[in-house]
Amino acid sequence: MNIMLTNPPSGVDIPAYTPIGNECELFETAWTRQLPLLLKGPTGCGKTRFVSHMAARLGLPLSTVSCHDDLAAADLTGRFLLKGGDTVWVDGPLTRAVRDGGICYLDEVVEARKDVAVVLHPLTDDRRILPLERTGEQLSAPPGFMLVVSYNPGYQNLLKTLKPSTRQRFVAIEFDFLPRDREIAVVAAESGLAEGLVVPLVELARRLRALKGHDLEEGVSTRLLVYCASLIDAGLPPKDAVRSAMIEPLTDEADVRAALLELAGAIIR
Ligand SMILES: Nc1ncnc2c1ncn2[C@@H]1O[C@H](COP(=O)(O)OP(=O)(O)O)[C@@H](O)[C@H]1O
Ligand SMILES: [Mg+2]
Repeated sequence: MNIMLTNPPSGVDIPAYTPIGNECELFETAWTRQLPLLLKGPTGCGKTRFVSHMAARLGLPLSTVSCHDDLAAADLTGRFLLKGGDTVWVDGPLTRAVRDGGICYLDEVVEARKDVAVVLHPLTDDRRILPLERTGEQLSAPPGFMLVVSYNPGYQNLLKTLKPSTRQRFVAIEFDFLPRDREIAVVAAESGLAEGLVVPLVELARRLRALKGHDLEEGVSTRLLVYCASLIDAGLPPKDAVRSAMIEPLTDEADVRAALLELAGAIIR
């Protein structure tokens, strides 16, 4: 089947996104078919950018929630708040997205408290409903509504992984870092640094990523590469930029840092 992508609404700024594979087509198809989406992949590889890109491209309102270990279901659905002596119901971001028919993106969803899954379940099967216990309402999600969640399978410990009963409700896309040439182009475009100067940074990043699992929990992200290239573009000596943006954020251990700096020194002068 040939899927035609929607023409971007004119006059809307679409955040730049370079695809790795068919993720844009998959996203649009999932949205058309009203299926929820799970994005898996390392930090800083473009998941958030991808969602903003697709939301703008489809002309849909987007609400993004960064989940943390204190985030409860009520933070997503809403609360009664005191306003000038009255209690008024205030929609949370999930409820608003259901009412507006937009995209609700829950970033790092495994971090959230357990009661969040209870709210997501009826929204992620064919009922597509959001029961609001506190107001007695039961909202039916309109066709435009889409739930997108992301998580990083890498650094979470075993206790913090998505339960099968939750993950099996989503169409999933696996993300990874871009292939070399595309990553060079992205880092150059995002930072303003000339491609020729980005090449050694990406080379170094790829070497450092190869160490993941041995001395490093996570490899250098595309985000860090963009930071590093921005520092160099702003006039910082490459060696200093690499140290601050590509080495220091990776480790706190002195011996690991020394080894990484040595590797960096061989590539970046
Ligand atoms: N495929 C891509 N296309 C364009 N920019 C990208 C891409 N991947 C990463 N980036 C850059 O890296 C930064 C971090 O990406 P982000 O989407 O925040 O990562 P994640 O949400 O996976 O942690 C973005 O702000 C953007 O500058
Ligand atoms: Mg993100």
